[in-house]
Amino acid sequence: MRIDFDPEAMDRTPFYKLLTSVVVPRPIAWVSTMSADGTANLAPHSFYSVSCVSPPIVQFTSVGRKDSLRNVEETGEFVVNFAPERLFEEVNATATDFPHGVSEFEKVGIEQETSLRVKPPRVAASPVALECVLHGTLGLGDSTVVFGRVVHAVVDDAVMADGHPEIDRLKPLARLGKNEWGTTGEILDRARIRYADWEAGRGEGRG
Ligand SMILES: Cc1cc2nc3c(=O)[nH]c(=O)nc-3n(C[C@H](O)[C@H](O)[C@H](O)COP(=O)(O)O)c2cc1C
Repeated sequence: MRIDFDPEAMDRTPFYKLLTSVVVPRPIAWVSTMSADGTANLAPHSFYSVSCVSPPIVQFTSVGRKDSLRNVEETGEFVVNFAPERLFEEVNATATDFPHGVSEFEKVGIEQETSLRVKPPRVAASPVALECVLHGTLGLGDSTVVFGRVVHAVVDDAVMADGHPEIDRLKPLARLGKNEWGTTGEILDRARIRYADWEAGRGEGRG
């Protein structure tokens, strides 16, 4: 038996809770921005993805109008800091609804690091930072999608193995449904199957 849910017939919040419980796990963009008057801001966003390969563009979504969005609109820049397991409490603390003009870096006690190409600072303890300039925004209902062109990436060599960021060293946090968070489980490593190999491999263990 399957249970049907019609978003048109439901209130916003229950459907939002359903959606965020089934679109899982979601990566977390720990977004740093700077207001026009120079206050640094930091907040997690799990509506986050890569939107384009060349040029490299990432996106995050502001549900409603929050300081991160306001700052990006004002200054045209942001940094996506990687959210690792070991910074779980800090990431969550920066989601507190501090008033505009209050810096989460200061309130939560997060060390800043100067970015190379943009004004918003990086999180010094985060292993990866993607420095972005605003490509554009897209208003969708109650939300705004922010697209940023990555103009610089920096990765801590402690998470690199053979010249590549390594998942076991990165240890990403993920957002699940409700107030749930996830960590990386077992890693499966399997190459994509080419059609020619699929045909040739018939009967060899794939049924
Ligand atoms: C793990 C996590 C993920 C979140 N993802 C989003 C998101 O994708 N979009 C959003 O608008 N708020 C998201 N939030 C809530 C914001 O982080 C929160 O509203 C924060 O106060 C916004 O800060 P700001 O006003 O400084 O931008 C998330 C919170 C947590 C804890």
